[in-house]
Amino acid sequence: MAGIDYESKIPNNVNLSDDRRLQRALEHWQPSYLKWWQEMGPDGMQEKDIYLRTAISADKDGWAHFDYVKMPDYRWGIFLSERDPERKINFGDHLGQPAWQEVPGEFRNTLRRIIVTQGDTEPASVEQQRQLWKTAPSLYDMRNVCQVNVEEGRHLWAMVYLLHSYFGAEGRDEAEELLARRSGDPDKPRILDAFNQPCDDWLSFYCFTMFADRDGKFQLHSLSESGFDPLSRTCKFMLTEEAHHMFVGDTGLERVLRRSAQLTLLDPSGDARAQGGIDLETVQKFINFWFSYCLDLFGSEISSNAADFFAAGLKGRFMEEKNYTEHTALGQEKRVTLWKDGKFVDESVALRNAMNEVLRDDYIDDCVNAVRRWSKAVKDEGVDFEVTLPSRRFHRHQGIYAGAFFNPAGEPISQAEFEAQAAQWLPTDADKAYLRGIMHGVYEPGKVANWIAPPRRGINGQEFTYEYVKL
Ligand SMILES: [Fe+2]
Ligand SMILES: [Fe+2]
Repeated sequence: MAGIDYESKIPNNVNLSDDRRLQRALEHWQPSYLKWWQEMGPDGMQEKDIYLRTAISADKDGWAHFDYVKMPDYRWGIFLSERDPERKINFGDHLGQPAWQEVPGEFRNTLRRIIVTQGDTEPASVEQQRQLWKTAPSLYDMRNVCQVNVEEGRHLWAMVYLLHSYFGAEGRDEAEELLARRSGDPDKPRILDAFNQPCDDWLSFYCFTMFADRDGKFQLHSLSESGFDPLSRTCKFMLTEEAHHMFVGDTGLERVLRRSAQLTLLDPSGDARAQGGIDLETVQKFINFWFSYCLDLFGSEISSNAADFFAAGLKGRFMEEKNYTEHTALGQEKRVTLWKDGKFVDESVALRNAMNEVLRDDYIDDCVNAVRRWSKAVKDEGVDFEVTLPSRRFHRHQGIYAGAFFNPAGEPISQAEFEAQAAQWLPTDADKAYLRGIMHGVYEPGKVANWIAPPRRGINGQEFTYEYVKL
């Protein structure tokens, strides 16, 4: 088999060594993947030993193994959470029928599109972040961005496994396309807009892992409810890795905010920038930008696609099985505040058509919890500053609020008012240039850049002073 020793090279729980068809497909795809990784993975970082976690089984206790690895030698595996032979479809029009083990013909195209859209975000984020390690504020952070990147690579493998195993020739073509698009490329961009935005400073990276990976969490959760069982099981296992990505973003922002507060107090005129740090207002602007951009990822507030996905049993709500007692979502409505002819209009929308908004609500609740903790951290440092999330109407490019102008409180304003104040609400070129100016890599174990607090704990029980990357 072209020199590929499947069991050792590709850890898996899908019986790869007995599946000749999948072997042949991967034999073709794996070299293209490695070529893509060399080209688009962390730039100039391929020969370094990094203390990384590798998924080695789908077992709840002990699924991960930590050791020094060079990234191209990372064992990108294929894992699905355990199969429940009794599993039924939990929602929609097929409620109560046995979960599908093969793709139902009538939903083939829709399912393929859902998988490709999710799959496309995985390599996109690696491309967006490929220069970041160079300016890491510590070896701990450098290790974390590489960890996130190899796991996004594994998530691409997971989606490609589904395409190869269940979608025939079309699936193979889509798997090739996933390696051909490039984040931010005008001719061959990634599918979703937030994944074409540059992410070249660490404040953006923490916001990205906080807000974009958290969108991923909610998308994966709703797909883990899917009646198509292999998709459900694939997404369930991806969520175990995704938790660390959100941890990196959430704690990263908290560390930046803490340090900002400390430097604000340290400076005689309360100017964190004068101390070489980031002022709280700038952090708030980055939160405004990434939160609003990531709200767009949930799609239109009123969506017949969302209704179709739910009806078909392809994509459920967040925690559909656990949190809801009624699973058809028929004969129910959701109030949505529309913006029509310069006025707010409250309208009742059939619940199935409002599924994107239902998921967005859950996402916002999750973000609100984090922001509360950050505000408390800033106050604990002795600075009176409330971190906030902007209104869901602010700075939207998709959905019913796109094209209109609202302030962060969600109040309608004119375009001229928006433009006059945008520099106070959203990062400016000068802010970004300032960040680039203070972010230099700190490559000594146990040292940390001036603009961020050290983490409370290291990785996998190690100290912060551990040599996470051997440079
Ligand atoms: Fe991912
Ligand atoms: Fe992620």
